[in-house]
Amino acid sequence: MSQDAFRLLNPDGKEMDLPVRSGTIGPDVIDIARLYREQGVFTYDPGYVSTGSCASEITFIDGEKGVLMYRGYPVEQLAAHSSFLEVSYLLLHGNLPTASELEGFDRTIRTHTMLNEGMLNFFKGFRYDAHPMAMLSAVVGSMSAYYHDSLDASNPEHRDIFAHRILAKLPTIAAAAYKLNKGQPFIYPRNDLSYCENMLQMFFAVPAEPYEIDEVAAEALDLLFILHADHEQNCSTSTVRMAGSSGANPYSAIAAGIAALWGPAHGGANEAVLEMLEEIGDASQIGKYVKKAIDKNDPFRLMGFGHRVYKNFDPRATIIRDMCHKLLAKLGRQDTPIFDLALELEQVALKDDYFIEKNLYPNVDFYSGIIYRALGIPTSMFTVMFALGRSVGWAAHWREMIADPKGRISRPRQLYLGPEQRDYVPIEKR
Ligand code: ACO
Repeated sequence: MSQDAFRLLNPDGKEMDLPVRSGTIGPDVIDIARLYREQGVFTYDPGYVSTGSCASEITFIDGEKGVLMYRGYPVEQLAAHSSFLEVSYLLLHGNLPTASELEGFDRTIRTHTMLNEGMLNFFKGFRYDAHPMAMLSAVVGSMSAYYHDSLDASNPEHRDIFAHRILAKLPTIAAAAYKLNKGQPFIYPRNDLSYCENMLQMFFAVPAEPYEIDEVAAEALDLLFILHADHEQNCSTSTVRMAGSSGANPYSAIAAGIAALWGPAHGGANEAVLEMLEEIGDASQIGKYVKKAIDKNDPFRLMGFGHRVYKNFDPRATIIRDMCHKLLAKLGRQDTPIFDLALELEQVALKDDYFIEKNLYPNVDFYSGIIYRALGIPTSMFTVMFALGRSVGWAAHWREMIADPKGRISRPRQLYLGPEQRDYVPIEKR
């Protein structure tokens, strides 16, 4: 659209010009902020299918072409050449760091990995079989009770401290949740290790014997975190922005985002994919399950397929599939049958008329679980791993939102379909 206004003709024949705003790239948006004041109507868009909730400079997606860029850099280039910490700096600060900026950032994150000892007591209170996402959201929510010395959202230094704490401490919290489920002692972080090496040792080391870090495993984790780091206004990020828009402290906003991520239509899908592949069990059953997914009377959906924005290949899925090949070649063939099954299922679905017609392609979650499983991470931890990668995106969006001088509380309206006014009836007359 090259026009700079969108003309609206209301039923009374009155016209109104709505301004059209152009982004750097991507479709234009119609600015409807004045609509209610001047026309007395709201827009109605459940699920926000055609609604931009904010302006952002962080991430761009072209769902038709399968493009994803962080701060203008294609995710394929970042996946091939960058590291999760460098990408984190990019998302938080807007530009790739210089060598000394990256060194300083890396040092800051490495030296803030420990938790306040009091926080570890939470893990003594949770049931041994608590879902790790429940523990993650609860403990992250509690961070505001430990770090209330730096919760002034109007202070840029406090905003930096918050982002560093989230990035540095989430893996430690996740590892504590994992160890509780496992019945093993908590392993403290080691600042001499890289971000992902440290995470692997906190998860898998035990005091009884030395732990050897597998470099390919650390590389695979780093790659997954890069690919999960941000995805513009997805459900959990929008939740973080929404909760934070009230002025709630950022740890509470991130805890809300973690809760939103947990759902199977969002980050919970990676867990659901593995459960589905295990249920399918064998290539001979694929046809039956594809039929179930197509049957509108059957609630079954092909998990890891379809996306609100991508109507083409999710570029992240393709990169992760390549990493699956590399990792399984290195780690042995134990998880190969499930990967082979996933590859076969992808081929069958991609050739199916229903999936072709509805543009349903594998999404980021289709193959990520296979990598986590090959690394020895249990299914219940998959969504936690997603949260660790996405935490920096949440922090970047919260910072962007809070630093916007025109920022307002997020407060959508509704189409009311309840009863009209009626009078209270005393209980004995009902
Ligand atoms: N299996 C079978 N049919 C599907 C699937 C699927 N995985 N995904 C979408 N469809 C169908 C829908 O039934 C719908 O059909 P209809 O037009 O006949 O009603 C059509 O495709 C459009 O799908 P919607 O659900 O309306 O699309 P929406 O954008 O609301 O949902 C979502 C997207 C939630 C991702 C959906 O594709 C889905 O449930 N996929 C499986 C879960 C999943 O993998 N989630 C992870 C998403 S990525 C992420 O959050 C990291």
